[in-house]
Amino acid sequence: QPDVIDEDLSPTDISALWQQVEGCRRCPLWNGATQGIAGVGPSNARIMIIGEQPGDKEDLAGQPFIGPAGQLLDQALTEAGLSRDQAYVTNAVKHFKYEVRSQRRIHKNPTASEVKACNVWLEREIELVKPEIVICLGGSAARAVNGRPIKVGENRGHVLTRPDGLNFFITTHPAYVLRVQRHEDRPAAYPDLVSDLQQVAQLLA
Ligand code: URA
Repeated sequence: QPDVIDEDLSPTDISALWQQVEGCRRCPLWNGATQGIAGVGPSNARIMIIGEQPGDKEDLAGQPFIGPAGQLLDQALTEAGLSRDQAYVTNAVKHFKYEVRSQRRIHKNPTASEVKACNVWLEREIELVKPEIVICLGGSAARAVNGRPIKVGENRGHVLTRPDGLNFFITTHPAYVLRVQRHEDRPAAYPDLVSDLQQVAQLLA
């Protein structure tokens, strides 16, 4: 279950939260990143979509899911009958974590303690937006929402409910879909993502 939020970390509206996230120092990741990036979308959205962390392009632009994974997400949402505009889109971790290889910034997975440190922001976003359903893209988002690790493969594709009543739905991360598409070893990865999202569309219809 989520951490209790300190009073001084408890913004009462979403734009105050965005500002606090930008200056967050709750874990060391702020050090290498350009900026902390909170969510984007209607503050009363019925759907919240949670990814892992900003990527290279997101870090520079200051918005979640604008790179290749974001483009695939948009395409899958559209095919499922949903639109990104109706969702509040955010990440479990608000700063980009990477290592530099051949002058490129390569994504690194956040640790459990980095996810935990960032959890106050995510929980505050959930409290302020009050979505009917939260879509977790991949394991880091699922872990953040669930409060402990939960397997994507075994728990994807149906609604789960937290003890506090929050409905969440786990599916694969679009970056994973892109990766396996390149290696052509899981041709169903994209259709599976779309059919998961279709289930969410039906729930909200
Ligand atoms: N991957 C994520 O999990 N989030 C982003 O914002 C971009 C890529």
